[in-house]
Amino acid sequence: MPALSALLLLALPLGVLSAPHIVPPHHRRESVQSRSTYTLKDHYRGNDFLDWDFFSGPDPTHGTVNYLTKSEAVSKGLAYVQSDNTTILAVDSKSKLSSGQNRDSVRISSPKSYTTGLFIADFWTMPHGPTTWPAYWTVGPNWPNDGEIDIIEGVGDSTTNQMTLHTSSGCSLDTNTKILAAFTGEHTSSTTCASSGSDNNGCGITDSGSNAYGHEFNIIAGGVMAHVVDSSGISIWRFPRNSIPEDITSGNPDPSSWGKPAALFSSATCNIGNHFKDHVLTINTALCGDWAGNAFPGGPSACASAVEDPSNYQTAKWEINYISVYESS
Ligand SMILES: *[C@@H]1O[C@H](CO)[C@@H](O)[C@H](O)[C@H]1NC(C)=O
Repeated sequence: MPALSALLLLALPLGVLSAPHIVPPHHRRESVQSRSTYTLKDHYRGNDFLDWDFFSGPDPTHGTVNYLTKSEAVSKGLAYVQSDNTTILAVDSKSKLSSGQNRDSVRISSPKSYTTGLFIADFWTMPHGPTTWPAYWTVGPNWPNDGEIDIIEGVGDSTTNQMTLHTSSGCSLDTNTKILAAFTGEHTSSTTCASSGSDNNGCGITDSGSNAYGHEFNIIAGGVMAHVVDSSGISIWRFPRNSIPEDITSGNPDPSSWGKPAALFSSATCNIGNHFKDHVLTINTALCGDWAGNAFPGGPSACASAVEDPSNYQTAKWEINYISVYESS
């Protein structure tokens, strides 16, 4: 591939060009290449999401929510594909409920699982509003030992996105000043990623930049969340709709060209291979429960009362453009 070789040559430091021993191009390519190249493994769009697994058990985070099976979600109009192949996952915004009733919502997970890779998720709209607790996240089969990575998460009408790891013991946030300077977000008070049923804060990094979450995310037609999981760490980037890198749009993503991520979890204080394994991708909207219930003004019981009112759910929906999964090659 002459064109590629020429490009790589241009990218060489000048000192290399004047070196006395010019190595053959294929060797040279190996030796200067610090970036990974990525190959598309899976692309999910439109009806693909309706083939994901619909979780319909009781909410593990104790919310006032009733997760529907696929057939229920489709027949109730809470999971469907628009004519432009945008996939909608919504919370019931029509039914007036009685006290103590759970509200219908949707939680889906990818049929395949992934341990490492580059994940690009494009959302037009994300849920927000009173009592809501939406998340786009990944999780292994044996929690917390196989880890959890939260890429989009927040509650209510927040304007801040929180990206969080949950693990077994032995993983923490790297607070080395060089690492802290290498991402744009702010780490939360807890640096301990170890999580359990009784302490499920995990270690988080918040993004309170413009258009990071909820209404603010939606008014610019959302954007792309991209994250890389490999032995060097976990990095998460957020690109608003009008600044999605061309290499993402064209399907040749090159994270080394993207600049600082919003969040960086370094492998210096968390062995990624030991803590993250076989993750499914998950998208859901919980209501009240462990986080959103306690954060609601008036607390969990006031939150549960607010769930009765369908007018709280006019903006509680995901509009998914696509999710692509790339493997390092
Ligand atoms: C939507 O996806 C289907 C395949 O699942 C394809 O046949 C159709 O052309 C797509 N429509 C648009 C508008 O992209």
